[in-house]
Amino acid sequence: MSYSLTINVDQFLTHYWHKKPTIIKAGFAHFVDPISPDELAGLSMEEEIDSRFISHQQGQWSVEHGPFDDSLFANLPQSHWQLVVQACNHWHLGAAELVKPFQFLPQWLFDDLMVCYCAPNGGVGPHIDQYDVFIVQGSGQRHWQVGAKDEGQYQESIQAGALRQITGFDAIIDQVLLPGDILYIPAGFPHQGNTLEAGMSYSIGFRSPKERELLSHFADYVIANDNGDAHLHNPEMASQTHHGEIQTSDLDKLTAMLRSALQSEKDIHDSLGGLLSQPRHQLDIVELDSPVTATEIQSHLRNSGILHKVSGLKTLYRQDHMSCIYINGDVFPAESEHLVHLLCNQTSISHQDIDDKLSQTDVELIVCLVNAGFWYLS
Ligand code: SIN
Ligand code: CO
Repeated sequence: MSYSLTINVDQFLTHYWHKKPTIIKAGFAHFVDPISPDELAGLSMEEEIDSRFISHQQGQWSVEHGPFDDSLFANLPQSHWQLVVQACNHWHLGAAELVKPFQFLPQWLFDDLMVCYCAPNGGVGPHIDQYDVFIVQGSGQRHWQVGAKDEGQYQESIQAGALRQITGFDAIIDQVLLPGDILYIPAGFPHQGNTLEAGMSYSIGFRSPKERELLSHFADYVIANDNGDAHLHNPEMASQTHHGEIQTSDLDKLTAMLRSALQSEKDIHDSLGGLLSQPRHQLDIVELDSPVTATEIQSHLRNSGILHKVSGLKTLYRQDHMSCIYINGDVFPAESEHLVHLLCNQTSISHQDIDDKLSQTDVELIVCLVNAGFWYLS
């Protein structure tokens, strides 16, 4: 099943992205759920997959974390609960299709596809997210309310040890979502959904990094690359009268030292590429029993085999510098722009894609990526 949006994405970006929430009625025409409630329950039973069961019985919130077993599903209450599974796009290829229509936004901003099965009156209560989210209504119906942007007017509290909520808000959006409708909520706008008719909902989340995250990752990069290991060197030291004083000239030297760490564009870009390509959720990477060779990969492709990229793997490159790619937090050299496109802008590679178009070095990179488990043969 493939999905396409009914809206003009440029108009959406101009009027709503990072500005205000909106409802896109029938954003997907004739919407069909890509995953069934049973399949979702199956995913929530897996160790590697992050899932939660949120319930609100007799006015009491409770949150349980997966993996779950049959005992949960054998004793479900009639109403007031919701099963939430993160990063379903990593584990269910049908569900991953629902991410593709949102690829007009950059891969580096995308976080994950969270899927919920909601029983009648299921919800997670009023809250504020740090994410921009498109909530696609699947089967069922939910009543959504969204309030004005958080400017510090809302009081946050933690329910059941794990559920961030606010006490309430005045709704600026108040509507029932039907299958195929999409609610876009920028980060910082309070919202809550209440389920009117049991069904599925899909949250396609985007997360913009914070300045402190860029700085902290850059510091990690500096240490990992053994940069900045020289001590301050000042053979011109003069005596000073006040022992406790940090002289302005010394502060200037230290400030210059700190600034010089941020002078190298290469280091900044590699640090950013590493950060932006790091996954936030576990990937379905399978270790190979034994390494594959270039010949084996080539013969696989010649025999109509395909190389698939692990779903959800982040593969990025810089517009101005296509001789390296960032994958899963690491940087790899790439010789041809053709290979960069194959690896970063496609989810699979076929024989036609590479037929005589790659250098020996490019082939070696593919072999290395297959052996790392980032691409797999099928
Ligand atoms: C929900 O479906 O209720 C949780 C999704 C969200 O509020 O971001
Ligand atoms: Co939310």
